[in-house]
Amino acid sequence: MASSSFNVVSLIRKKRDGNSLTESEIEQLIDAYTKDLIPDYQMSAFLMAAFLNGMNAGETAALTNSMLNSGIVVDLSHIDGIKVDKHSTGGVGDKTSLILAPIVAACGVPVPMISGRGLGHSGGTLDKLQSIPGFRVDMKLSRYKEIIEKHNLVLAGQTEEIAPADKRLYALRDVTATVEAIPLIASSIMSKKLAEGIDALVLDIKFGSGAFMKDQNDAIRLAETLVQIGEQFGKQTVGWLTSMEQPLGNAVGNWLEVKESIECLRGGGAEDLLEVTHLLAGTMIWLGGKAGTAEEGTELSRQAISNGTAFQKWLDIVEEQGGDSSVILNPETYPDAKFIENITSGQDGYVSGIDTYSIGMAALELGAGRKTKEETTDPQAGLLIHRKTGDYLKKGETIVTLYTNKKEEIPEITENIRQAYTLTESSPDPIDVITHRVDKEGVHEYRPKSL
Ligand code: URA
Repeated sequence: MASSSFNVVSLIRKKRDGNSLTESEIEQLIDAYTKDLIPDYQMSAFLMAAFLNGMNAGETAALTNSMLNSGIVVDLSHIDGIKVDKHSTGGVGDKTSLILAPIVAACGVPVPMISGRGLGHSGGTLDKLQSIPGFRVDMKLSRYKEIIEKHNLVLAGQTEEIAPADKRLYALRDVTATVEAIPLIASSIMSKKLAEGIDALVLDIKFGSGAFMKDQNDAIRLAETLVQIGEQFGKQTVGWLTSMEQPLGNAVGNWLEVKESIECLRGGGAEDLLEVTHLLAGTMIWLGGKAGTAEEGTELSRQAISNGTAFQKWLDIVEEQGGDSSVILNPETYPDAKFIENITSGQDGYVSGIDTYSIGMAALELGAGRKTKEETTDPQAGLLIHRKTGDYLKKGETIVTLYTNKKEEIPEITENIRQAYTLTESSPDPIDVITHRVDKEGVHEYRPKSL
């Protein structure tokens, strides 16, 4: 509660001068801002001071706690089992949630999943789910509980009631150049995840050209902070560092990614996508108490695909949430975008790098993402990636296929995609898709598996 002795200028000054705030000072600040007792200009000054001087672990935990308690904290304790969710820091072609959520639920672990919309060049699970005709992600809390009780799974959108302080602060950070600060990012992510009713959390922290954290060491620091917060709040938290130096799998764009997920749930799918998905799912299954180790969980995850239980769970949840399961059973009946264009290579060579940020931006420009908060996304728009790092390309071969309803965007995007590919005469080093595991014991290198 903001008390009468609360003096926001002195708190800003304290942070500006490099000192640490107490738990109660942070609580008063967030509480007052949420109640509109502090104007944006003072909060902006505070955020910039925090951005420049950092926040220690105690301050970061206090900020998380204050944002978490600014809204409802869902209680799922009446549901049997250890409730586990996964969060990704965002990437291009990252559809792992769509595949692992039914897998983990089919393995007997309840998954309460609240997802967000796409952010900038990176796609959002919510937009992907909404490309399924009829699929509803907005629901009352009572319905959220009813669905997870029935199916061990619920796929919902962020509501106004979850961490409203983060919603306001995030919007302010966006326009005051204060997004890219690890304590601010970590408290923002964790305040929302901790409000879902979970007992344990798996994190996919992405690094590379298509991630928000370009640098691997920054991603490791973010992972450490996220895991530390999770553990401080009594939730077992395990993070995996995964590469975003190229799109994950082959599809980028909402329906195209749902279609690729269906392929994976039916036993197909690209190797890099399956590698990341099964590891994340396996870790969730282990944290959910249904396997002795993450590796054993990974095996159960693969079995849930081969025995058909994961796909059945997916059909059940699509139907329960109002979606048309006939397009899941027959994805070829989904209407294609009006314009489908193949982009071919202008020369021979090995693909030695893909500027994944540009690929994400190309998908956005084709209609798969938003340039303003208010824009709607086009479910049909996106890209199919035919060639990835290490592949040899001959002149004239197709690199990428574009799907769009915006004909006028095609020439410029074609050029941008060609430029996003670097071709060389010699073959490049393979990409390590998963590089580190971060848990409460520290940072561990992962056995290299190059794809
Ligand atoms: N995602 C979030 O939810 N918050 C951030 O600050 C950055 C990414």
